[in-house]
Amino acid sequence: MKKTVTLLLSLTVYCLLYSHPVVKSSSALSGVPFSDPPNLYNDYFAGAGACMLCHNAQVNNLGMPVAIVNDWRSTMMANSSKDPFWQAKVSHEILVNPQLSDEIQTVCTRCHAPMGNVNALYGGASHYTLEDMRNDELAMDGASCTVCHQITPESMGNYSGTFSIGNDKITYGPYPTPFSNPMINNTGFIPTYSEHIKDSRVCATCHTLITHPLDLNGVPTGGEFVEQAPYQEWKNSVYPTQNKACFTCHVPEIEDLVVISTIPAWLTGRTPYGKHHLVGANSFMLKLLRSNIDELGLTASSQHFDTTIARTYQNLQLSTLDLTLSEINRTEDTLFLDLNLVNKAGHKLPTSYPGRRVYIEMVAVDATGDTVFHSGKMDEEFNIIGEDTDFEPHHDLIVHNDQVQIYEMAMGDVNGDVTTVLERAAIHLKDNRIPPEGFAMNHPSYDTVKIAGSALSDPDFNYLNGTQGSGSDIIHFHLPTHQNTSAINIYATAYYQTVSNKWLEEMFSYESAEINTFKALYNAADKSPVLLASRSLTSVYTAMDENASLLSVFPNPTHKEIMLESQTDVYSVEVFQLNGKLINRYDLKNNPTKTVKISVTDKSGLYFLVVNTEQSRQIKKVVVF
Ligand code: HEC
Ligand code: HEC
Ligand code: HEC
Ligand code: HEC
Ligand code: HEC
Repeated sequence: MKKTVTLLLSLTVYCLLYSHPVVKSSSALSGVPFSDPPNLYNDYFAGAGACMLCHNAQVNNLGMPVAIVNDWRSTMMANSSKDPFWQAKVSHEILVNPQLSDEIQTVCTRCHAPMGNVNALYGGASHYTLEDMRNDELAMDGASCTVCHQITPESMGNYSGTFSIGNDKITYGPYPTPFSNPMINNTGFIPTYSEHIKDSRVCATCHTLITHPLDLNGVPTGGEFVEQAPYQEWKNSVYPTQNKACFTCHVPEIEDLVVISTIPAWLTGRTPYGKHHLVGANSFMLKLLRSNIDELGLTASSQHFDTTIARTYQNLQLSTLDLTLSEINRTEDTLFLDLNLVNKAGHKLPTSYPGRRVYIEMVAVDATGDTVFHSGKMDEEFNIIGEDTDFEPHHDLIVHNDQVQIYEMAMGDVNGDVTTVLERAAIHLKDNRIPPEGFAMNHPSYDTVKIAGSALSDPDFNYLNGTQGSGSDIIHFHLPTHQNTSAINIYATAYYQTVSNKWLEEMFSYESAEINTFKALYNAADKSPVLLASRSLTSVYTAMDENASLLSVFPNPTHKEIMLESQTDVYSVEVFQLNGKLINRYDLKNNPTKTVKISVTDKSGLYFLVVNTEQSRQIKKVVVF
């Protein structure tokens, strides 16, 4: 044990003092070789290895490491060019439209391999390919230090990778009057104060991705397609007014005094200090990378990846979603449940890359241990049972096992058919990703971040008590109990999935070196979805209706018409058939009232009235003869 520790320590010291690109370090615990990021330069950029000498030994007030390069090197941004999914997808897009091969590669490497792409294009090259990238160590250093820190103030408001980089080596940072000589002498880069480094528009230069769709013959449609827009989603939320920008959550600040450079030795601390965690939701790919450090030539150790993976889980499980499960009512034959999901992220949940999704598993188990209801079950191959072949529509109400709630974006091509080819995506067939708190349909950025599909007609999608901007959704479950009056245990769970088999199917039907490589890594990878939150409750059947006194319904049985009298204002009434089909909806949001006259239907049978009042959601059964 002692030996391992000593070895680790001496390695750290060694890396610190002599970080150099050809040095192959190796993690003492796992023995997997990994290199340091490149200590190399081109006309505009330097690899993160050039910053390690001074920006990799930072500690907080307690002496715990908050080192910049070590925090960054195992993030998805640091690995954006080595990411085997990305490389496979570029190859797929080329195979679909081979005549546009150069253009596609030039576009795709802009944000994922910016130090190679920008240097080549600024130097007069007409395009930049994967082949160029692989022969270019700086390109392989991903979205690195000198990219983010050299994006000019003039780029603010530019999207889709159209940031500009100055030719003056000005490196923007958050602190006034940096002591700049050591850095200039050592690297040629000039640390310079500029408040725009904390502007969310720095991130939006790459994170807003608007594409120019192609039709099925590869001809541009002339239109635009919003592929990723966390910035516009964030604009359309409460967070900008609360001064919570991208960096607040993704480069989280501490108030400790941190000495930000190892040289000179007498430097005093700075505060606040932003930790370069840069975690989002992609634990799947981070785990895949950790398992293939040597094969993929990565510049972080498995310990670095472990730390970033743990932070990602923490982000997903503590900062992403609030879940509440409540029993609304139980009749002899139906259990009524509401599942309320509140998005805590600064943008939609899930956000960004179109393959991401959040889905809900709902299980009901009776007293004998029999499963009486199960929606959103995953089979051993990690496919969701019951998911529709094109895409599952958004559900406000779930009554069958094969209805499953999946929050996601589905892309359609020029014919309106589902596609996962990024260049062919022309319309949003579905976008029920849960909006952030404060999201409004009359906000100037709504056009860019529209809700699409049946979520539009869900009265409590982003609405609570008739007010828009809740950043939440309520799924109603009417579970058939088949006259089973035993206690029933309910388990509701929300899961996050980075990418599904279904989403990869189209790409895996093609072959290339990149696709085959990723396919093999994918098949060997842990594809388990990440649990975001889960709730459970036990329902005990009582024949009494506790809310009976608050709401009366008469006559019942009835013929056609029914009067509803409530002690509190009614916001809406929905009329359902026993099979869960919505047949009528009275929206009284703008005109709440205590008495409502309802015409049920002319077909005799059993119906449910779902009555939403200020305080509650109540269910009444009515018999029509
Ligand atoms: C404007 C910048 C930009 C351009 C151009 C761009 N991407 Fe991306 N790409 C991103 C960002 C940012 C993410 C991360 C989003 C997320 O994690 O949800 C991403 C993520 C991805 C992922 C998911 C990777 C993973 O590990 O899950 C794939 C695949 C991908 N991009 C493919 C492409 C392809 C193919 C192209 C060219 C057609 C392309 N990208 C062009 C910015 C860009
Ligand atoms: C995603 C863009 C991005 C990348 C990549 C990035 N930084 Fe930063 N950096 C920021 C932001 C934003 C801040 C301001 C954080 C704050 O003050 O809250 C910052 C702050 C800093 C600071 C001031 C101290 C601190 O942490 O607040 C230094 C020094 C720094 N970065 C160096 C680096 C180095 C070295 C790398 C490469 C390993 C790097 N940065 C990569 C965005 C980035
Ligand atoms: C020889 C040491 C050294 C190296 C190597 C070095 N820096 Fe610095 N850096 C410094 C010093 C010293 C400061 C200023 C510290 C202070 O004033 O508190 C600084 C400050 C910064 C700041 C903050 C500027 C501000 O005003 O907020 C950024 C950003 C930064 N460096 C980025 C980088 C990047 C990127 C690299 C790699 C290309 C790099 N540095 C390499 C020594 C170095
Ligand atoms: C030069 C382009 C560029 C800029 C500028 C940029 N990013 Fe990224 N970022 C990327 C790319 C590319 C990826 C996706 C890499 C992949 O998945 O292959 C990414 C991924 C991410 C992720 C996803 C991580 C995960 O594990 O899911 C987060 C979070 C993120 N960036 C935050 C930021 C923030 C915050 C800023 C601004 C301070 C920023 N980025 C600026 C290119 C950029
Ligand atoms: C209030 C905190 C908060 C703010 C502000 C915020 N985010 Fe996030 N971000 C999150 C959380 C939580 C997640 C994980 C859940 C998700 O993917 O939506 C996340 C995930 C991400 C991801 C990763 C998606 C993936 O596929 O892995 C990207 C990229 C991202 N954010 C970019 C941004 C950008 C760009 C901004 C600023 C415009 C921003 N975020 C502002 C909290 C925040």
